[in-house]
Amino acid sequence: MIKGIIRLLIICILSGQAALANEGMWLPTLLKKYNIEEMQKMGFKLTAEDIYSVNQASLKDAIVLFGRGCTGELISDKGLLITNHHCGYRYIQQHSSVENDYLTNGFWAMSQQEELINPGLSVKFLKRMEDVTDRVITWKDTIPDRIEQEKIIDENIEAIEREAVENGKYVADVKPLFYGNQYFLYIYEEYKDVRLVGAPPSAIGKFGGDTDNWMWPRHTGDFSLFRIYTDKDGNPASYSPDNVPMKSKKFLPISLKGAQENDFTLVFGYPGSTQEYLPSIAVDQIINQNDPDKVAIRDLKLAILGASMKSDPAIRIQYASKYAGTSNSWKKWQGEIMGLKRLKAVERKKEFESDFTSWVNQSETRKKSYGDILESFKGLYEQLAPYSKANDYYSEIVYRGTDALQLVAKTNPVLRLFGSMDDKQIEKSQKALTVLSTSHFKDYHKPTDRKVFIALFNKYINDLPKEFVPVKLSKLKKEKRDKYLLKIYDKSVFTDQQKYSDLVSTFNEKAKEIFQNDPLFKLYEMFVETRTLNVWPNYAHLTDSIKQVQKRYMKGIMEMSVNKQLFPDANLTLRVAYGKVEGFQPKDGVRYRHYTTLEGIMQKDNPEIYDYDVPDRLKEIYNNKDYGRYADDNGQIRVCFSASNHTTGGNSGSPVINAEGQLIGVNFDRCWEGTMSDIMFDPDRCRNIVLDIRYALFIIDKFAGAGYLLDEMEIVD
Ligand code: ARG
Ligand code: ASP
Repeated sequence: MIKGIIRLLIICILSGQAALANEGMWLPTLLKKYNIEEMQKMGFKLTAEDIYSVNQASLKDAIVLFGRGCTGELISDKGLLITNHHCGYRYIQQHSSVENDYLTNGFWAMSQQEELINPGLSVKFLKRMEDVTDRVITWKDTIPDRIEQEKIIDENIEAIEREAVENGKYVADVKPLFYGNQYFLYIYEEYKDVRLVGAPPSAIGKFGGDTDNWMWPRHTGDFSLFRIYTDKDGNPASYSPDNVPMKSKKFLPISLKGAQENDFTLVFGYPGSTQEYLPSIAVDQIINQNDPDKVAIRDLKLAILGASMKSDPAIRIQYASKYAGTSNSWKKWQGEIMGLKRLKAVERKKEFESDFTSWVNQSETRKKSYGDILESFKGLYEQLAPYSKANDYYSEIVYRGTDALQLVAKTNPVLRLFGSMDDKQIEKSQKALTVLSTSHFKDYHKPTDRKVFIALFNKYINDLPKEFVPVKLSKLKKEKRDKYLLKIYDKSVFTDQQKYSDLVSTFNEKAKEIFQNDPLFKLYEMFVETRTLNVWPNYAHLTDSIKQVQKRYMKGIMEMSVNKQLFPDANLTLRVAYGKVEGFQPKDGVRYRHYTTLEGIMQKDNPEIYDYDVPDRLKEIYNNKDYGRYADDNGQIRVCFSASNHTTGGNSGSPVINAEGQLIGVNFDRCWEGTMSDIMFDPDRCRNIVLDIRYALFIIDKFAGAGYLLDEMEIVD
């Protein structure tokens, strides 16, 4: 009884402080102004300068943008960094073959000499960021027309970036925030020699596979290790055997204390993209058109890839990364639809819009600036619907649906430039195409891709109105169409490694013509042309108009919320999200605990099911209870925990940091019931999923016997 009253009291206190809801991805430079007080109230012991500073080493110096869309963090003073297994997946896969199958068996460099180089992979450290709105939007009283405005903005951005790169020393990026109501400059240092140090077998790093992806309870050991190398003087450099491990100026100490319920958590990383300020009509379209369309297209593709992969281990390796990538968003979209419906997101947005309207109606100036916005959205989104459907189909099917057309699309730009190339340039392109061809065909299985091709293109032709389908195809009857499409596919040089490479090696005018007269190339051109003529002009025009209205809408929302701090949508720049370790209630009568254990892995174990096939060595350790210092107070190995940090794609690999600034976990996913957080955050159900850092250490030490790596880390008891 007393317990119940205390609980009730706590709930009242918590809900009274509405700001304790953990929504938001905040700018590290503005924490001092907006967030740090609240963070400290929640338990955080450090200062805003400890997180971000340009004058002293701060947490930000330990964080990298890993590759094109993940986060990683340094965990030693020798450039060792940890990210997710799924972020390193592509590289692990590229080093894998049936003989040397690192995906299945894992990979551990037992010395620095054994670390593997990864051409194309780089990491970026943020040197500093700054608000450059006044330098980008330079007009004052007389406002130029829109075209002129954009020209001025582009020129200003270019000038700012040019200056900031300091003759190539840095990478600089000016990015709009709040739909272009503000601009920030980001200056990075980029390191291009990043080597693979270790990765657990997929049966650990991807345990639960696509079945458990986006779900709790989760048991994935989703981590991999890399090392940054520099030249002898410590400068960023491309790969060279003479390079040395980076001398990191900041790295994260690792806590063995683990994550207790309600502990403060800070996620520091690179969230990719969110859309928190859309109008109701846009959300409605996502729920009822865009997401379902994309899901249905990928349903077809995944069924075909899945069946092929099951039939042959070589195909499983070839398509592992592609399957995971295709399945990932496919599953998220389904969770998103469900979550948005359950939240009644459209209705909630409508309520907000009616508040907005009342606010607008309070003054004539507001009416003039914002009075038309909601009507404009309505008209524009209604017009956009058919074009955005065609656009989704194009990008899901023609652009990224099949291997063969992707090769066409990648070869095409070279062919176009051929006429203007001198011998040297031709030689260079030849080399590039040879590299492309090798990596492409390594992971290409013709019968599989052929099935995908037929299934997807039929869907395209069947589902879209005639005007969006190339005339030649829309006229053909179904039986004839299959035959026609298959003939194209089978005759193409883009589906035949030998023929493709032969043409590349004799890369002359005639070869170019053969490429360009190839039936698949022609088919590709037909689709591109139909899109260019019948979809793109309206699509581009309407989305551009929507962008303009959205910019004004955002401005209005910001004015309306002067007393409430807003965070800008994610845009793959460094952000801080804070919350706490907590479980949640996914549905009536069910409560999810905030952590999982090795016990749960053993419960899921099933050698018959690929995703749940626990390695023998892990079972052995489990049976011997050889847990060392990695067990919790109950003698259990914890695998994952959940927390209430507002995260999104790109936050994968982000450090989850405790109140003392130590690493307690590596972020890698979100819970199914909360995947709508990219559009609307629900503090009751949105949870990020984190690998307990102790599980990573346990795997490195006890499972892989690579304990020497722990020597360079700072592990705090
Ligand atoms: N859902 C996580 C994210 O969006 C993990 C994806 C990788 N795992 C997978 N089974 N496909 O990146
Ligand atoms: N798994 C995602 C990533 O790769 C994270 C997320 O969407 O929550 O970044």
